[in-house]
Amino acid sequence: MPVGTVGTVKGMTMDAVRSTGAGIVLGNTYHLMLRPGAERVRKMGGLHRMMDWPGPILTDSGGFQVMSLGALRKLDADGVTFNSHIDGSTHRLTPESSTRIQHALNATITMCFDECPALPATPERLAESMELSMRWAARSREAFVPREGYGQFGIVQGGTERDLRARSVRALTEIGFEGYAIGGLAVGEGQELMFATLDFTTPLLPERQARYLMGVGTPDDLLGGVERGVDMFDCVMPTRAGRTARAYTERGTLNLRNARHADDLRPLSPHCDCLACTRHSRAYLHHLFRAEEMLGPTLLTWHNLAYYQRLMRTIRAAILDGTLPDLAPRLRAHWAAGDW
Ligand code: GUN
Ligand code: ZN
Repeated sequence: MPVGTVGTVKGMTMDAVRSTGAGIVLGNTYHLMLRPGAERVRKMGGLHRMMDWPGPILTDSGGFQVMSLGALRKLDADGVTFNSHIDGSTHRLTPESSTRIQHALNATITMCFDECPALPATPERLAESMELSMRWAARSREAFVPREGYGQFGIVQGGTERDLRARSVRALTEIGFEGYAIGGLAVGEGQELMFATLDFTTPLLPERQARYLMGVGTPDDLLGGVERGVDMFDCVMPTRAGRTARAYTERGTLNLRNARHADDLRPLSPHCDCLACTRHSRAYLHHLFRAEEMLGPTLLTWHNLAYYQRLMRTIRAAILDGTLPDLAPRLRAHWAAGDW
């Protein structure tokens, strides 16, 4: 899922996002409730109408963003009080208000309101936090208004602790959700521990429902996640990297500001059908970034989203014809091989 935090995939028209093959985008309760405000989005016809994306939209519930962005936050058993990162004004989110706001936004997939502790954390702290998130999950479900074509995902917490993850999965599946997210990862534990946690968490989840690994990741994280049974991901990486001149390709990453691209007339990737690769050279992209032209970030975001979507299409096709075990080492070898 490309990330469209404030109701825009930064620098991209939604036709451009669509052209990369994306079928669903992500929005954020936290940002949209502060600006322009949930009620204003509702009056604009909901998030789909506002941003011109008729496809599904998943919204994160806000808890994670309060903790990572909100200045001065106070957590209690009922919810979180926080100050806006924009103007310092005081706001409050609870499982009920987060769910209500996500309905006002007309989110296709609503996320439970949860707490995501930073890692490393003590097992006691992780247990307490997970139990709180499970109580909040039950309240989020109560507040959710079911509608045909809409759904709500529970979020598994419990850090890197096997028994906590198992208890969290049990609590959520007892409540029952349309899909299940794995939260509390990619928060400083490193890839090895993240994969180890997935190894004992995904087998516990219902086979026939979507599994979504939140806030992940690099192409290698996505491949490893899929190998461990994950279906969905969201990450700012392709869009944020695109704005800072970093390109993801089949041969690893490139920095387009680097002087070695100044006279390189080749496309960024010979395998890519995005606008940047089919119509422009590396030399031009380099020039756009050096001149600080806004088209640079747009073209590179476009390319990175096209690469991520192509990667996932390739992986899906390999799963369908049973060749993922052959594909995975080839992808990794190409990433390691470096530029063409
Ligand atoms: N984004 C990345 N990790 C998380 C998480 O644990 N919870 C929520 N709500 N969003 C996330
Ligand atoms: Zn491209």
